[in-house]
Amino acid sequence: MRGRVANMAGIAGAGKRAMRILSGVQPSGKLHLGNYFGAIRQFVALQERGEAFYFIADLHALTSVRDAAALRRWRLELALDFLALGVDPARATLYCQSEVPEISELFWLLGTLTPMGLLERAHSYKDKIAQGLSPEFGLFAYPVLMAADILAVRGELVPVGKDQKQHLEIARDLAVKFNQTWCPDFDPQRGTGGVLVLPEPHILEDSAVVPGTDGRKMSKSYGNTIEIFAPDKQLKKSVMSIVTDSRTVEEPKDPESCNVYQLLKLVAPPEELEAIAQRYRRGGMGYGEAKQLLLAHLHRVFDPARERRRELEQRPDEVLDVLRTGARRARAVAAEVLAACKEACGLA
Ligand code: ADP
Ligand code: TRP
Repeated sequence: MRGRVANMAGIAGAGKRAMRILSGVQPSGKLHLGNYFGAIRQFVALQERGEAFYFIADLHALTSVRDAAALRRWRLELALDFLALGVDPARATLYCQSEVPEISELFWLLGTLTPMGLLERAHSYKDKIAQGLSPEFGLFAYPVLMAADILAVRGELVPVGKDQKQHLEIARDLAVKFNQTWCPDFDPQRGTGGVLVLPEPHILEDSAVVPGTDGRKMSKSYGNTIEIFAPDKQLKKSVMSIVTDSRTVEEPKDPESCNVYQLLKLVAPPEELEAIAQRYRRGGMGYGEAKQLLLAHLHRVFDPARERRRELEQRPDEVLDVLRTGARRARAVAAEVLAACKEACGLA
């Protein structure tokens, strides 16, 4: 991770300008362990290495949320989650996507250049169609809006989960297409002379897929999540509901095929994990005990953030202020990029 980031910083600005790190999360439900280990943990680490822009993808959330009160609540809750888990407004710019209207305008400019075939091949669209959901234009155009999110603020390094890799490729394709179409000096080999900067994905492989309580990928849509900020009782209930096989305490077990152990891997220290694995293999360790250990480690790792979040909840004005300041900063960059794009394509 270190080498890659240093390398990108070199490409981005030869030491003159900090690398722009950018990512977003949809406010479409409560934050879970998959979101943290697949996304937010990287956001927090990367804010030390460049100029980070993190946002609440509320326009994207409209493709699935149809409850205004819930969306309003989740937007604020996600801001609280980010801040409690360590996104630092002194280092990172935090904002709501819908507060930066330049993104939506760039979305259209990109849309006029987007081949239908590119969007028809997008996994997230194909998956939803396969689930029998009747498609709306917003869902189809989702990757174009995502490209606009990134390109509007010159995002260079984009930390995301594995499932977003294809969307990043589409964002790159659209940046190249725009530059090729509208910028006569664009050199695709050297990446110079264009108005849009080409983004790079940044994917953490080892925690790329966090399993849920039923062993499938942890996801809001499967109802198999462990919510980081759930009340104590609910957190315990989720952990106790993790599906295991019916081996007795005495029987030897394979740690690698156990959902509880897979989650312990994310939170237990390596020495302890090794000892747990040995006890699994030897027999004598029951799933109930493993779940209790997991619960204790979840508390150890997340209780400080859970406490910080409770404190922040008492000061919503401060959180709104962070979002307002963030939107102002993001708009300043997006307005510059949009002006350059409009000039390039003859709208100014
Ligand atoms: P959900 O599947 O619960 O709706 P989102 O699609 O909103 O989650 O994901 C938000 C971010 O969290 C994305 O960057 C995504 O890749 C990451 N993420 C979500 N679930 C997982 C998981 N189970 N393992 C790893 N990363 C995940
Ligand atoms: N589609 C992303 C997700 O579901 C969220 C997102 C929207 C995003 N716009 C983005 C992520 C731009 C990175 C960059 O997780």
